[in-house]
Amino acid sequence: MKIKHVQLFPIATPRQTGIANQHVLVKIEAGDSYVGWGEMSDLSHVPMYQFDLPELERMLNQLLGGKDARNLAKIEDDLIRFYPDEGHMYSRSGLVRQGVDLALHDLIGRAEGVPVYDLLGGKLRDRMRVCYPIFRMRSVDEVAPNLQRVADKLTQGFDLIRVYVGANLAADELFLGQFTDRFKGQVEIKSLDFSNLLDWRRSAMALERFDELCDYMLVESGAPRNDIEGLAQLRRRTRRPSSEHVLHLHHGWQLLSAGAVDILNVSPYLLGGLRACERMIALAEAARASVLIGTTQELNLGTAAVAHLAAAARVLDYPGDSTGPHLYTDDAVKNPVRYEKSHLLVPEAPGLGLEVDEEKLKTMTAEAKWTFGVDLAGVLDRTAATRPSAQQG
Ligand code: LMR
Ligand code: MG
Repeated sequence: MKIKHVQLFPIATPRQTGIANQHVLVKIEAGDSYVGWGEMSDLSHVPMYQFDLPELERMLNQLLGGKDARNLAKIEDDLIRFYPDEGHMYSRSGLVRQGVDLALHDLIGRAEGVPVYDLLGGKLRDRMRVCYPIFRMRSVDEVAPNLQRVADKLTQGFDLIRVYVGANLAADELFLGQFTDRFKGQVEIKSLDFSNLLDWRRSAMALERFDELCDYMLVESGAPRNDIEGLAQLRRRTRRPSSEHVLHLHHGWQLLSAGAVDILNVSPYLLGGLRACERMIALAEAARASVLIGTTQELNLGTAAVAHLAAAARVLDYPGDSTGPHLYTDDAVKNPVRYEKSHLLVPEAPGLGLEVDEEKLKTMTAEAKWTFGVDLAGVLDRTAATRPSAQQG
């Protein structure tokens, strides 16, 4: 089953919370009639440069054309040479590898008539609990609208949130205190996420305050980027489990061997697809560490891939973060992934289990407004420039 053609389709979709994100859908054709779809998810993060898409498409055709689509190991080995680990949270290389890895898993699954989790060895669970994000508040003005968002999401069945903290501690405290008053017993907090904004001691001090205000399952990214020693210090001083995004396999080893985390936050968008995630989960298993599956906020194809990974993961101790299909107001698939009461359900149809609406995709690509770079507050905080305090960003 030789790869014949790789095509890239840029699209942009707005979120309910105000910003719009750019993504690239990947179509791979192989053999006589096999097709698979993948996704490079949410390209609207720092660093602020973008792909040259025609160039990337040419390069991928050069690299993959004529290769056996079933030989995932060989293709991955080739890809990692040309798109190496970049060592930061929004690695463009990781996204390229994710796009190809997802499309090939989809293609092989369809060719075999089996869901992708079967290609990963089978299914241990049919759903994963996930949380809805409350984005970082820069002013106390944002507390009331965010509490309202929790209430709205609760009516849709979401009883789990995560909260981005650390930009304005007064706003964080107000939110967490009022959250407990209003939602205790109804909605849980999966994580308080510092996004590497504070040094470990400031995070530790903030957590002492937060501990008095609310209950939560874990703390994420409580030290500056790459500060493994800082994370280890924080972990020794806090009661709750500590998690960090893993950037590449060796980084996972570094975090675990330094005693810096209890939980590896594992994500296909960052590690470069499903195979890379499976290796990371094995590493966590070897270290007797925990795993959660994180997100950049994927579209439906990327979220379906996460669901298949969750189905097959040998270690998966905490809820995940994949709520992209809830955040985005549009997508190019005919049958979105399904959620049930804060759970992402594992699709059962062959491949990733979704059908791309190619007509709609064409229109979305033609109309895609590549707004990258015009909304700086949105790039950093994931909330709209029109919110009350964005200008202070
Ligand atoms: C998002 O786009 O909402 C997330 O990737 C935010 C983040 O940086 O965790
Ligand atoms: Mg993102």
